[in-house]
Amino acid sequence: MNILGVHWGEHDSAACLVQDGRLVAAVEEERLNRIKHAPFAFPLRAARYCLEAGGITPEDVDIVAFSFAPSVGLGRGILHAARNFPKANFIALTEVVRRAWYLAQSAFARYSLKLPARTRSIYVPHHLAHAASAFFCSPFDKAAVLVVDGMGEWPATSLYQGLGNQLHSVATVNFPHSLGFFYSAFTEYFGFDPFDGEYKVMGMAAYGEPRFHERLCDIVEILNGANYRLDLRYFNFHREYGRTTWYSPHMVDVFGPASASTQMPEQHYLDIAASVQQRLEDALFHLVDYLHQQTQLPNLCMAGGVALNSAANGKIAQRGPFERLFVQPASSDSGCALGAALYVHHSILKNESRDPLRDVYLGPEYDSDEIEADLRRNLLNYEIVENPSEIAAVLLTEGKIVGWFQGRMEFGPRALGNRSILADPRQADMKDRINAAVKFREPFRPFAPSVIEEKSDDYFENVGGSPYMLRVTQVRPGMDERIPAVTHVNGTARLHTVSHESNPLYHELIQCFGEKTGVPVVLNTSFNVRGEPIVCTPKEAIACFFSSGLDALILDRFLLHKPARDNAAGDRPGLS
Ligand SMILES: [Fe+2]
Repeated sequence: MNILGVHWGEHDSAACLVQDGRLVAAVEEERLNRIKHAPFAFPLRAARYCLEAGGITPEDVDIVAFSFAPSVGLGRGILHAARNFPKANFIALTEVVRRAWYLAQSAFARYSLKLPARTRSIYVPHHLAHAASAFFCSPFDKAAVLVVDGMGEWPATSLYQGLGNQLHSVATVNFPHSLGFFYSAFTEYFGFDPFDGEYKVMGMAAYGEPRFHERLCDIVEILNGANYRLDLRYFNFHREYGRTTWYSPHMVDVFGPASASTQMPEQHYLDIAASVQQRLEDALFHLVDYLHQQTQLPNLCMAGGVALNSAANGKIAQRGPFERLFVQPASSDSGCALGAALYVHHSILKNESRDPLRDVYLGPEYDSDEIEADLRRNLLNYEIVENPSEIAAVLLTEGKIVGWFQGRMEFGPRALGNRSILADPRQADMKDRINAAVKFREPFRPFAPSVIEEKSDDYFENVGGSPYMLRVTQVRPGMDERIPAVTHVNGTARLHTVSHESNPLYHELIQCFGEKTGVPVVLNTSFNVRGEPIVCTPKEAIACFFSSGLDALILDRFLLHKPARDNAAGDRPGLS
């Protein structure tokens, strides 16, 4: 049974292939079409890759599962527009167009992928797809499931109980009371893209004091049960979605003009960010407590864009009441491709057997011959190394910033040691060096540590395993001085624990660095520059190497050094 999962949304289009219940391939369209978040793009390249990786042709696809259901929430959308007449008329129009688009997805997929007539199309409600992506990828056969995003068809927050191969609804909070859009509106107020800046706000929050928390308690009012309400006077997204700012003039009246600088915002904005983060966490804790009270289960699964808030995740894991937490690593909408396919496999086809996610190395890979051909075609000097992990570790000890490209590309927003930029975390100035010379991004944003799993407790508190870099935890007292480049201003780190089983080569690299320095931790950031998706192909890695301040590049077993005169951004050969 071949199920092709497709998420074709306003952003983060993706595809995956589930064969007889096993997830064999998944990739975001942005990595292949090279447009960040691939807005509105049908994931044609991604789907074709998944079929190829699964060794099948379109003729073999039994079911295509989509991550939106056209009929969900249409009535509520029209009612909302009527209530907010005339301003929300654009919303009503958008809702009708959106649903027509969802309905057309099946026909478009059939036509563009040349699927046979026997292939079935199944539409899975968006939040069920999110929930299934978390529950069926988790190691649990019973769990509470929390989905929090901007909005699906109409729900903004959904609570479920997962039992065996079924998901049962516990509660729903509908748009416009959206925690995702609440955070996005403030993201835009701080001067960032509301679809691509939430993690920047999380980074800002650590620099601020939450002195506006009381005001934020009025903006997000926590109610009994699974309920909360937004004070909609502060927002525009529910009235003129897509046509104006997400925050309203009332926000400016209360907090002052929007931030003019994104490089290092004034303290006023840092304090608002800290307050926004704290209020988001309040609301999540409330939902988590309610879910525990209703389900009385020890396990919690989370998905939806808000589940990428690793600072909140770390606190949820630490405070309980759930004993174990699994956050789906591609929690934003791209993960809905997985969820749609897994929901069909488990809940619709009623398959009992489970195949928990082992890692996220589900994307394209390139063999040595292909990589060497690329290098030769571009007349590049390279060395063949038999021990890339050890060579990389030595380069890091020399203070080099290293591009590290191995095996299958990661699915999800985090680079987890196959498409990573690595550096020595012991050097205090490394964060500024990488920010200025390689990533070209805001100076306040922290970098994450990768640590070998067996040593993680020595450096970090309350680890509990963080294989997907989705949990912020405290750096142990005294250890912050050993790894200053990956310790955030508030003494925390967005942790990535690496096991030998999940990634032997990367584990060996960190272990080797630890043997040479006494610190089994490396700085790990995604292999891209600002505004571009993470590199997928060797050619993109080479282009990124020459267009940034990277010192060395290890592609599979090929090592490239940059001549000293070229060691600056912008000095890039033309690649073919
Ligand atoms: Fe979503």
